[in-house]
Amino acid sequence: MYNFTCMKFFIDTANLEEIREANELGILDGVTTNPSLMAKDNVTGEENIKQRYLDICEIVDGDVSAEVIATDLKGMIREGEALANLHPGVVVKIPMIKDGIKAIKYFTDNRIRTNCTLVFSPGQAILAAKAGATYVSPFLGRLDDISHDGLALIEELRTIYDNYHFETQILAASIRHPMHIVECAKIGADVATCPLKPIMQLLKHPLTDRGLAQFLEDYRKGSNP
Ligand code: E4P
Repeated sequence: MYNFTCMKFFIDTANLEEIREANELGILDGVTTNPSLMAKDNVTGEENIKQRYLDICEIVDGDVSAEVIATDLKGMIREGEALANLHPGVVVKIPMIKDGIKAIKYFTDNRIRTNCTLVFSPGQAILAAKAGATYVSPFLGRLDDISHDGLALIEELRTIYDNYHFETQILAASIRHPMHIVECAKIGADVATCPLKPIMQLLKHPLTDRGLAQFLEDYRKGSNP
């Protein structure tokens, strides 16, 4: 069953400025990254990437997904253990492949938290939950991009996980716009991870701007009649 606390907000970036800005709002629960986001922020090489994870963990009091590069079981275990040892906030991000499922089971048995990434179907999500993943990351925007209904996948996962009381948390990923966030909250996703822009877009409503301008104008008129 999903937690009856508010949906958690993660930011999906490796950029420290964006992470600080979201964190200052006081609503940030964690961070997700991936190799593409690291490269986009010009963070390259194993040591620099590890340092970036440490920098992120210094800023955010929450879960920080750190992705393995290896695609074989031994390599994923080696990399995942090193990442988990960096900081207690690190969650090891493992791709949804055959050895990935084996690695998630290994980490579950060894009390290391995992985020199963690149999930696009209910069947994949069942395997991730059976292996004991802490989080499963369905990529809803990328499904929308190829004319599949990404939000329908989140709904299916909610039903399946609730049917069997799986504790794996649904981390809605690849979010493109604020309505994705609202719809994920309606469905009951445990977490939404999104770039800074859609988080900030949630703030905006033209009637708020117009109403505030009117309040301030009336206050000024009242103060200087
Ligand atoms: C999730 O963990 C991924 O980093 C991310 O949400 C992918 O989003 P994209 O499809 O916008 O690249």
